Amino acid sequence: MVKNREFLGSSWRNQMFPYPAYLRRILHDRSGILTPRVLCSSADRDVVRKHNKTKQASSPQVIRTSKKERSSCQLILEHFDHQYSEELGDLWASVRSVLLDPPSWQYGVLLNRFTVATDVKRVLLSKGFSTLLPQKEALTLPGALRTVFDADCQTAKGSLSKFPSDNSHLRLDNGSRAPIQQAQSEARSGPPSSPLQCYIHHFPLRFPSQAHRPGQLKQYYLLNAASLLPVLALQVQDGEKVLDLCAAPGGKAFAIMQCATPAFLCCNEPDRHRRDRLTKTLESFLPRSLSSRVAVSAQDGRSFGQSEAEIYDKVLVDAPCSNDRSWLFSSAGQQVEQRLKERGRLPRLQVQLLRSALSAVRPGGIVVYSTCTMSSSENFAVVEAVLKDCPEAEPEDLWEEIALPLSSYFTFSPAHRGLVPNTRSARPERGRVSSYDRRLGILVVPQPCKTWGPMFLSRLRKRK
Ligand SMILES: C[S@@+](CC[C@H](N)C(=O)[O-])C[C@H]1O[C@@H](n2cnc3c(N)ncnc32)[C@H](O)[C@@H]1O
Repeated sequence: MVKNREFLGSSWRNQMFPYPAYLRRILHDRSGILTPRVLCSSADRDVVRKHNKTKQASSPQVIRTSKKERSSCQLILEHFDHQYSEELGDLWASVRSVLLDPPSWQYGVLLNRFTVATDVKRVLLSKGFSTLLPQKEALTLPGALRTVFDADCQTAKGSLSKFPSDNSHLRLDNGSRAPIQQAQSEARSGPPSSPLQCYIHHFPLRFPSQAHRPGQLKQYYLLNAASLLPVLALQVQDGEKVLDLCAAPGGKAFAIMQCATPAFLCCNEPDRHRRDRLTKTLESFLPRSLSSRVAVSAQDGRSFGQSEAEIYDKVLVDAPCSNDRSWLFSSAGQQVEQRLKERGRLPRLQVQLLRSALSAVRPGGIVVYSTCTMSSSENFAVVEAVLKDCPEAEPEDLWEEIALPLSSYFTFSPAHRGLVPNTRSARPERGRVSSYDRRLGILVVPQPCKTWGPMFLSRLRKRK
């Protein structure tokens, strides 16, 4: 993640409204200069040029010199060039340009249903954000939890009551909103409605992360919107027992709790420091009333299936992987050698984790396997290896359920097992890949203006 990225597009910074301090900061403390690096069309570039010109003319004092650019690691890049030009073919050039350009990366804002986030929603809409998924009606909590939850909410409400009802002064340039609206209407027939309230923007506008507020839950979580797809694929229902086998820092556990109220969610993380981060995430986002339903455990995920065999309805394996984005920017010196060696060892660990997950899930239950790398040896090859020796596992098609309906927002690559698609377009195309191959999993690849991913996901059902 890039720290301290500019929140772009805040052309209202000099206006004073009775917003609470943290939202005033969002509205007023940022320069508002749009980055014209990876934009889709000349119309987009015009919007940006117009916006920045007005910005610079009207408030020169807000222009800041750009933050120090992060440098990528040449050796890792060469390694990626070699591997991904083979695995992704023509697509690799555009993926590469996005990976090397952190200012072009988009961020999603996932609202916390356990807080009153009307004010945040208002600011997001006023800045041209819109929801990724058609909204389902607000979730209800089981009766016994409701009173306690309402009490938790009251704490948050106090600071939000002074909000102005009229936000007409906060309208964003219509031009920058159009593409996402178009994408939304295209997708409206397809994407499943969901209680997940994730807001995204066509441009790489970065909402600042929310500081700790003593006694109050955080209202939103910033994330790569593609990381919601494994959670959607998990289809968690109220009352289910769910295991998040590799849980830290807790983004997907948080998202799971936005989708439903499971009877029990076990968040497992063997690394102590990462487990601390996980615990903090859960404390910052979930009301105390849910603490009896959410547990943190510290097992090696490889042995989880033995110790808790066939207990869970749903298991998420968001596996340790060679995270393409962070490896490209956080590897230096000896770390590079070490990381490349580690890359070779990861598939074995991933296979063991996925097998363990299949042991932990009940017959008829489902396991979702995900990574944030495009490497086929950590993705399709892992799923294939597990299917070979787990005849009880059946892969399910996410192409129809997730890739096609969400193709306006995400770019799904049909590349698999080293096969090279000979096309520049990565929009799902029927008939390109056999139905068996499609069932092994789907891969989101970052593209200009759809910079989400990398994210691979596969869903296996344990036969009854
Ligand atoms: C990709 S991260 C998980 C991210 C998390 N699901 C989220 O959304 O915030 C993978 C995690 O797996 C953990 N891990 C590594 N080896 C593991 C093992 N043997 N068993 C379980 N988890 C492991 C890592 O420490 C790391 O926190």
